[in-house]
Amino acid sequence: MFEVKNISMIYDMDTDEKMYALNGFDLKLPDKGLIGIIGPSGSGKSTLMYCLSTLKKPTEGSVLYNGKDITQISDKERENLRKNDFGFVFQKHYLVPYMNALDNVLVAGNPKDKDAVSRAKQHLSDLGLKEREFKKKPAKLSGGQCQRVAIARAMSNDPKVIFADEPTASLDHENAFNVMNILKKYSENRLVLVVTHDKSILNDVDMLIEMWDGTISDVHDRL
Ligand SMILES: Nc1ncnc2c1ncn2[C@@H]1O[C@H](COP(=O)(O)OP(=O)(O)O)[C@@H](O)[C@H]1O
Ligand SMILES: [Mg+2]
Repeated sequence: MFEVKNISMIYDMDTDEKMYALNGFDLKLPDKGLIGIIGPSGSGKSTLMYCLSTLKKPTEGSVLYNGKDITQISDKERENLRKNDFGFVFQKHYLVPYMNALDNVLVAGNPKDKDAVSRAKQHLSDLGLKEREFKKKPAKLSGGQCQRVAIARAMSNDPKVIFADEPTASLDHENAFNVMNILKKYSENRLVLVVTHDKSILNDVDMLIEMWDGTISDVHDRL
C-alpha cells in the first residue's frame, strides 16, 4: 500500500551543513499488520511517519500510496486523504479539554453520520472505558484513559492506516500494553504504524523497522 522511494528530508536548508533527518532510502509496507518503527531519539522516526502521512513533505523522493505519489497531490486531496484514510495518535492525547470523552471521539467525524455515536460508544467500551466515563472530561480521566479516548477518536472514521507516534510514552507499563493490544487487534485488517524508542512494547509486531541516523538500519519482516 505504501512504497517509499529514495526519500530524503533536510531541515534547516539555509545552513551550510545539511542535516539529513532522512537520508535517501526505499521502503515498502504491507496493506495490513502492525509495523513497529524503532530507533534512538533523533534517528528520523517521526519524520518518516509524518512524510508517510502527508503531515510533512520530503525534500526529495516519492511516497506512493496505492500507487499514487502523495507528495505531489493538492492540499484538498491531502486533506481528504487524512480525513478518510488516516488516523493519528500522538504521545500527548490532544483531547479537547472542555469536551467529554464521547464528544472528543466524535469531534473529527462527519456530523451527518447517523451511526457515529453508537460506533464511538462501541469503540470506547472495546477500549475498556465504562459507560459512566463517556461523559467525563479529560481532566477527570487518567492518562491511560485519555490515551484510549484518543485511540477511539483515531479509529472513529475506520481509517485504513493508523499512525501512532510514541503512543505509550506517557503511560505506565500496564496501560502501554493495553494500548498495544488494541492497536494489534486493529491491525488484523488494517495497517498500524507505531513509532517508539521502547522495544519492550513491540513483541507482537509483524514487521520491525530499525532506524539509525536518518536511514533504515534493519528490517525484520515476520509477516
Ligand atoms: N522541525 C524541525 N526542524 C529542524 N530539525 C528537525 C525538526 N524536526 C526534527 N528535526 C531533526 O531531525 C532529526 C530527526 O528528528 P525526528 O524525526 O523527530 O526523530 P525521532 O522521532 O526519531 O526522535 C533530529 O536530528 C531532529 O533534531
Ligand atoms: Mg519522534
